[in-house]
Amino acid sequence: MLEAREAVRNLHAYRPPLAGRTGLRLDFNESTVGCSPRVLARLRSLDSELLARYPEREPVEKEVANPLGLDPAQVLLTNGVDEAIHLLCFTYLDPGDEALIVVPTFAMYAIFAGAEGARVVEVRAGDNFIFPAKDLIAQISPRTRLIAVANPNNPTGSAVAGDVLIQIAQAAPHAAVLVDEAYFEFHGETLIAQTRRIENLFVARTFSKAYGLAGLRIGILAGEARQMAMVRRVASPYNVNAAALAVLPEALQDQEYVGRYVAQVLQNRDRLQQELVNLGLHYWPSQANFVLVRIGPAHAEFVRALRDRGILVRDRHSDPGCAGCVRLTVGTDGHTQILIDALREVVERLGLRNLGLRTRMPNGVRA
Ligand SMILES: Cc1ncc(COP(=O)(O)O)c(C=O)c1O
Repeated sequence: MLEAREAVRNLHAYRPPLAGRTGLRLDFNESTVGCSPRVLARLRSLDSELLARYPEREPVEKEVANPLGLDPAQVLLTNGVDEAIHLLCFTYLDPGDEALIVVPTFAMYAIFAGAEGARVVEVRAGDNFIFPAKDLIAQISPRTRLIAVANPNNPTGSAVAGDVLIQIAQAAPHAAVLVDEAYFEFHGETLIAQTRRIENLFVARTFSKAYGLAGLRIGILAGEARQMAMVRRVASPYNVNAAALAVLPEALQDQEYVGRYVAQVLQNRDRLQQELVNLGLHYWPSQANFVLVRIGPAHAEFVRALRDRGILVRDRHSDPGCAGCVRLTVGTDGHTQILIDALREVVERLGLRNLGLRTRMPNGVRA
């Protein structure tokens, strides 16, 4: 009988709840308005000749590298950040190597590292999801070959200072250190320029969030040129499809559109967080386009009640340290108002008002 590799057999199946996502989608941190009209116009203008040809990634990599202040050799366009993670694991991890991650975090680091047969070493975030820099550095061993950090982190929305990440990269020169900046646009701080001088540092970006292009699957992996040459060896030359490559320059040029959307999200993040204070629910201040809130034992009922009102949010109860937590994506003024109105109703109906003042936090800290 044919059997998959042992490392693959040992993986847990990861199935994000994608089915039946009709309604206001505040569950995957996507843009709630979608991409710029200029991008849509470019998509509509594509012809059969473009689709008949294999896609050519390199000219677009040049266009992307320039505004980032990087050499084209430092930039690889990928099929979303997911593929960037996959390629880094493929390039650097042998079976038995160690991959360090801070939990809770984005699921794909452990999946792709585990698939290579690496041992995934999880370092728990501190109280209130404080980044455990000391504990992480203490876990670095000669077998550590990958360290992955989402900054800002998903699902907590918390961020860590760039100099701490640089310290980590310097403490593990034999490991690829990935700083996943999927939510960069909502945070504004980046280490991408440092990839010029820190050989083992990689930075990933996505067009799935602020740019509203999750369906096209496009991301950036940046790193030091010699390291990127190694990563390129294991990437398909056609990993990014022709439609994504054709619209990417347009998406990058329409910074006004993205800037306007991000500004709205930042305002609404404040507004939502203030509403959570008013409702007496505990949340963690976010640097991204979502907020993690503690609902307690009624988390599943809360998610259901919002779904009944046409709003999808994501239950994160099973993430380490996230018992009873739900993640709410932040969108436009109108979408946030719909969310806030529904929150008020559901919180009353389920008797959750001032729950944050009554309950203990999952990690033992009082709300
Ligand atoms: C931290 C983080 N990295 C990467 C991704 C996936 O990005 P992409 O759509 O570019 O694969 C997500 C999506 O939720 C994320 O939260």
